[in-house]
This record gives sequence, C-alpha cells and structure tokens, in this order.
Amino acid sequence: MRHEWSSRLTFILAAVGSAVGLGNIWKFPYITGEYGGGVFILAYLFCICLIGVPIMLAEIGLGRRGKHSPVNTMLQLSREAGAHPAWSLLGWSGMAAGCLILSYYSVIAGEVMAYSFRASSGMFNQQTADGIKGIYTSLVSEPEKLLAWHTIFMSLTVLSVAKGVRDGLEKTVVFLMPALFVLLILLVIYAVNSGGFDQAVDFMFTPDPDKFFYARNDIGHYLMDAQGDKIFTWKPMMVAMGHAFFTLSLGMGAIMMYGSYLNPHVSIGQMTLIIVSLDTLVAILAGLAIFPLVFANGLDPAAGPGLIFETLPLAFGNMTGGALIGTLFFILLFFAALSSAISLIEPSVAWLIESKGVRRIKATVWVGTIVWFIGIGSIFAFSGTSLHDILQILFRWFGIEHVELSQTFLKYNFFTVIDFFTASIMLPVGGLLIAIFAGWVMHQDTTEREFSFHNRHVYPVWQVMVRYVSPFLVLMVFLNIIGIFKF
Ligand code: PFF
Repeated sequence: MRHEWSSRLTFILAAVGSAVGLGNIWKFPYITGEYGGGVFILAYLFCICLIGVPIMLAEIGLGRRGKHSPVNTMLQLSREAGAHPAWSLLGWSGMAAGCLILSYYSVIAGEVMAYSFRASSGMFNQQTADGIKGIYTSLVSEPEKLLAWHTIFMSLTVLSVAKGVRDGLEKTVVFLMPALFVLLILLVIYAVNSGGFDQAVDFMFTPDPDKFFYARNDIGHYLMDAQGDKIFTWKPMMVAMGHAFFTLSLGMGAIMMYGSYLNPHVSIGQMTLIIVSLDTLVAILAGLAIFPLVFANGLDPAAGPGLIFETLPLAFGNMTGGALIGTLFFILLFFAALSSAISLIEPSVAWLIESKGVRRIKATVWVGTIVWFIGIGSIFAFSGTSLHDILQILFRWFGIEHVELSQTFLKYNFFTVIDFFTASIMLPVGGLLIAIFAGWVMHQDTTEREFSFHNRHVYPVWQVMVRYVSPFLVLMVFLNIIGIFKF
C-alpha cells in the first residue's frame, strides 16, 4: 500500500526540505552578485509571486490527484481528462532535469562537507580574505578530492532514498531545518556589525536597472555595440525566473511527487504559502549574511559559485567560537542539501519501482550511479576545464586537429551549460506545461474539488493566474530571449 505523510507537518517539512537547500544559500547570493543585486532580487520576487505560487499549487494538486510518480501521474490525469498521453513527457523531462541538477548539486554538497571538516580543524582562524580564497582554490584544483566528496554525498543520498521517503526524510528535516534557520540569523547578526551591512543592504535592495539589463564582461565593464551603445540583454531575467523555479523545486515533478503522498484533506493553498515564505526568507537571510562580508572585505560580489566558500569562513575565522559555529553551519547546510537531493532523485526511483517492478534499493543504486557519472563533468568544470577544452578533446578523438574554436567557449564549462539548460530552460518549460495542464486541460470541477481552497474567492484567482498570468510571463521571457519580441 502507498504510504501517506504521517501528518500535515511532515509534508511541510519535507517540501521545505526540498525547497530550502544549496539554491538558497549557495546559488541565490552568487547569482544575485553576478546580475547586479537590487533589480535581480526584485525580478526574482516578482517571479516567485506571479509564477512560483500558482504553479506550486498546481504541482502539489496534480501529484495528490495522480498518486504516482510524475510520469504515471501525468498518464493517469491525461486519461482522466481525455487528453493525449504525451503529457507524460512532462514526467520524463522532469526525471532528466532532476538527474542533471543532482549531478552538480552533489559536487557542491561535497564541497560543503569538505568545509565542515576544514571549519572544525580551525583552518579559517584569523585568515585574511586572500588566505580564505586560497583554501577554496586549493580544494577545487584537486579533482580527485572533489570526486571523493561527490562519491560520499551520492552514496549518502542513495542510502537515504533506499530507506524510503518516510523514514529517510521526516526525521532529518524536523530538527535540522529550524537549527539551520537559527544559525543563519546568528550570522546575519554578526554581519550587521561587520562594517559592510549598509552597503550590502544598498546592493541588495536599491534597484540599478543598468546592471541588470545591460551585458557586462567578466570584470564588470559594460559591453558596447558598434554604435557605442550598451547592449541590452534578457539573460538575467531568464536566470531570475529560472531561479524562482529552482529554489521552489518546481517544474520537474519533485513537488508533484511529494504531493502524491499528501492526504486529501489538507489545504494546498496554506501549504504553498508556508513553503514559499520560508524558502524566500532563508534566501534573503543568506544574502544578508554574505554580502556584508563581501563589502567589508573588499571582495567581488560577482565572484561566482565560490562566493559562500570565500566569504562565510572569514566570519567563522574571526568570531569567538567560530570553529564550532562554522562546523555546525556546514553540517546543517549539508543536511539541507541532502533533503533537496532526495527530492531530485525520488521521481526517477519511484518510476522505476512502479513501472519496472524494480526493488527500491536497486532502483536507487541505478539512478545514483548514472548521476554520479554525469557529476564528473562538473568536477572538471570546477577545477578549470572549459567547454573549449572539452570540444578540443572531442575533436581530437575524431582525428580533427587544430580547430579554431570561438573564444566564447572559454567562458562556459560543463557546469554552466547544464545549470543554464536545466534551471533556465527545462524547469520553466516544465512549469509552463504544468500551468497549462492544470488551467486548461483538467476539468474545472476536478481542480476545484482537488485544490480544496478553504476560501471560495481563492479558486478563481488561482485559475486566472495559472491560465493566463503565469504562462504569459514565462512565454514572454522565452520569446524575448530568442529575439521574437523586443521590450
Ligand atoms: N530547491 C532546491 C534548492 O534550492 O537547493 C534545489 C532543487 C530541489 C531543485 C529539487 C529542483 C528540485 F526538483
């Protein structure tokens, strides 16, 4: 028999466990830094409210009605609505996105584990900003170390998932999420007194549209066209929208999967509001903890994926009890990453169990191994292998020597490509299809009953959002990116 969550609280905890993770604490601050602060955060919050909230409601609702892994849920719901079974492709692309995301997520989570040991050994004590940067550089320049940590993290993920969602997840999340929250608040209090707080608040909340809408090079200078005008770009908007999906775990079936274990009497609206508010709060707190350190120490907010590893240890190295607090912080972040990793792999595992009759343990080991292999690409990326290098190797394999490759390939690597493709394309497309399915394809009386809003004014508002507003906004961003519209 399929189990349900043991209580409403455990569903919230599991969904918050999926949503809150490296996306909030590692990714949100560094992309905010790369895309200039203020307007990026506004764009992200705008997407959370107008796209994230309605689509999360839809995704939980679809899962709860379908009661299966995303592929089979979509098959069943499309049959019920008399629609084409091709809607199950949504589940397939979700499984692919989950595995691709987990492949690099695990490498970063491995770095987090490595840092909990570094923090406990007192390595950060009294270090300068340069010293801390050196510690990070030496970790990522040794691929075999990253590989070992990636292997450990994937093994722990496989172990947790093999035990089954309920046992593996509920206990972990109940204690650790609140603890992480408390530690983040402590770090923000430390940051308030670090000397860079005002600048950080200014950076995060004062909109500077130029930094968002115009393309800049690696050192922050604006790029110019032949007429000497700045070059307009929609990429930051796409990243902001993609991050709204990523941080809420939407568009790939993770939340649909968790919804499938949810009992029918719970109000999906309330659940959504709680999950979204907590997730957003954690991201903003992470920004408020990290950016003051960036400015107080003259660091570059656009330092990229290494940002938290190059900033927070500075605080841990200089505060009393920093070794303990630092160790605790990275351990809690590791658990936050683990509870997200579980939700990234669960749709594929559940599908193998349901449709292929594979035992849970075997299914988990299979998927885990594939993800582990893909992760090796990101390990090379973090240790400095660019797309340029990979293409050259590939050409050489095919016997083609001396190819002139564009310099742009130097800027990209396996991680940046997979990250952009999954977060900025696959998740929003998945979300768009979920909105269209829930808004247009499912029968209205089914959704009205299924979503069981306690307030009768909420349903029509949700319906307008999911039918028109969210799809329109996602499409606008896509059409602008491919240059069909010019805003
Ligand atoms: N929401 C997670 C985070 O912010 O770290 C990452 C994630 C989990 C993305 C599950 C997508 C997903 F389906």
